[in-house]
Amino acid sequence: MPEQTRKILVTSALPYANGSIHLGHLLEHIQTDIWTRFQRMRGHSCYSVCADDAHGTPVMLKAQQLGITPEQMVAQTRDEHHQDLIDFGVNYDNYHVTHSDENKELCELVYNRLNDAGFISKRVISQLYDPEKEMFLPDRFVQGTCPKCDAEDQNGDSCDVCSATYDPTELKNPRSVVSGAEPVLRDSEHYFFDLPQFQDMLQDWLQSGAIQPEIANKLKEWFEEGMQQWDISRDAPYFGFEIPNAPGKFFYVWVDAPVGYMASFKNLCDKTDGLNFDEYWNKDSDAELYHFIGKDITYFHCLFWPAMLEGAGFRKPTGVNVHGFVTVNGAKMSKSKGTFIKGRTYLDHLNPEYLRYYFASKLSDAVSDIDLNFEDFAQKVNSDLVGKVVNIASRCASFITKRFDGKLSNNVLEPELVAEFHQAQASIAEAFEKRQYHKAVREIMALADKANQFIDTNAPWVTIKDESKQQFTHDVCSLGINLFRILVVYLKPVVPILASQSETFLNDELNWESSQSVLTDHPINKFKALMQRVDMDKVNAMIEDSKENLEPTVQLDPNSPLAKDPIAETISFEDFAKIDLRIARIAKAEHVEKADKLLRLELDLGGETRQVFAGIKSAYKPEDIEGKLTVMVANLAPRKMRFGMSEGMVLAAGPGGEELWILQPHEGAQPGMKVK
Ligand code: MSP
Ligand code: ZN
Repeated sequence: MPEQTRKILVTSALPYANGSIHLGHLLEHIQTDIWTRFQRMRGHSCYSVCADDAHGTPVMLKAQQLGITPEQMVAQTRDEHHQDLIDFGVNYDNYHVTHSDENKELCELVYNRLNDAGFISKRVISQLYDPEKEMFLPDRFVQGTCPKCDAEDQNGDSCDVCSATYDPTELKNPRSVVSGAEPVLRDSEHYFFDLPQFQDMLQDWLQSGAIQPEIANKLKEWFEEGMQQWDISRDAPYFGFEIPNAPGKFFYVWVDAPVGYMASFKNLCDKTDGLNFDEYWNKDSDAELYHFIGKDITYFHCLFWPAMLEGAGFRKPTGVNVHGFVTVNGAKMSKSKGTFIKGRTYLDHLNPEYLRYYFASKLSDAVSDIDLNFEDFAQKVNSDLVGKVVNIASRCASFITKRFDGKLSNNVLEPELVAEFHQAQASIAEAFEKRQYHKAVREIMALADKANQFIDTNAPWVTIKDESKQQFTHDVCSLGINLFRILVVYLKPVVPILASQSETFLNDELNWESSQSVLTDHPINKFKALMQRVDMDKVNAMIEDSKENLEPTVQLDPNSPLAKDPIAETISFEDFAKIDLRIARIAKAEHVEKADKLLRLELDLGGETRQVFAGIKSAYKPEDIEGKLTVMVANLAPRKMRFGMSEGMVLAAGPGGEELWILQPHEGAQPGMKVK
């Protein structure tokens, strides 16, 4: 029996709300989900929470580009991310968002406690500022020429060509990525968290077994270099939470993001009877808390975050579980090679449980990177899941259904073999517990090999033809099904959908202890194919779909209007936003002498009247449009025409001739209103 029931809370890192979930993210969510499902199967209380990370400069700028508010973008992305995860069988108790009331409140609480305890100070610093966009620039939003090797177009903090690292102020010919303007240095007051005060506590915590030894070693370098004050504020404009009593100053996204773990859990507590926030987060909590993260965000989780928690009087994590990065076919995921694969694109082509199984077969508690090699992926899934596990059931099930009344026998053949399957429980459990999923999978597959050998040796497809061996055949097939059942118990955290379909087939609900029993005299249901083999054509189609071509390679139909009249050069959103569209009332419309295309319009902008010559004579009679509302470009430079000044332009669409329509806003619109 498992130890006493444990109280566990786990989290995965919060994906940024400005991009899609990709296979790299999924490694982490699948790793967390397998562990959570395993704990629950064992009868422990295990909650898991996640959320979208909503704040920061990249999210703010992306929303501006799309012409929507960051709130709108974040809400949309959160829903999309959540659906992607659900479709991969990743099952959080709560999926929240850091731009939430709970998070704002908790951030303020944490900050106020840190401030009251004297851990916050203020100091003026000098930073690069975009004078056109009127904002301070994070390092990655400055580019220029490398100060060491003169390579052009390098990022603000490091050079891709010579690998030098530097301060963005050292770049030659620096420019803002946002507006192209040359940044200037500007002073501003920033808020700092006194990290050095926590040095001793952190050193103890890092040695407490909370993190992998390789990570603890790496972090020692930081202590040797000496800890610095941590800059926790950012100036407006910034999408985030304002710092209490500090107008125009916002929490740096890395302050409110980890607090987002607490906030997502708080939100869950508020909707779950009997679930108490303090029991999990108070200093004297007896619950276990684990964060699953990638290696790139170690510092935030192993230094800043425990120090913030300690300083604010909360408990620290029991463990921070760090994983490596996903590479695809041996290389960094690449958009042009089609190996930067979004979760949704994968789902369009392949079964999510292939990926869950493949990742599990490669995951350990080490920080090393994990290569997703698609040949290996197909080979492993086909030979293990389909060829070994599912095959056991498909070899035995039809005889039970057709010849033995759909019922397992009440006789157990080969008790030693069964005992071996029972006994494997302990070491498989230990492997899951320690996040050595590859070890668990290896053991399970070794058992599957034994089950197949047992069936091969006893060849029920031969004995079924011998009237005198009916009982024996029934016993062989029944044991085959029972061995399959135990394997599915052990695999259930990894492939929950396959497990649930197997439960229907077995007519039985599987928990961890089910591995210790054998079903006898038990009715089962008709067997349906549980999993298809991986089809390499689908893998290749997924890769094709993931290729993002920088140049459009679409072959144009020569009859397409685009062929004769290609789309003009891309303009920036900023350029587009310069166009001021207004509602105007056509106060007067008349023919122009000697002009065969033009009407002369007097447009009322609600206080200002403009004369515009519009080429719409072929489509409209003046008397038909007088008094109507339309839309005009109100800030176009006036143009002298043969018949007089034209002070703007009305918008019309259509191929021309009679088929031309001016835009008509709804009747309630008021002349002069801005059109958005
Ligand atoms: N928003 C922060 C996390 C805040 S947690 C309080 C962030 N977001 S992220 O979207 O960039 O990454 C989310 C998680 O996915 C991180 O743990 C990151 O390490 C992981 N991965 C992102 N790309 C990855 C791979 N290619 N491979 C494996 N994990 C990867 O960081
Ligand atoms: Zn360089």
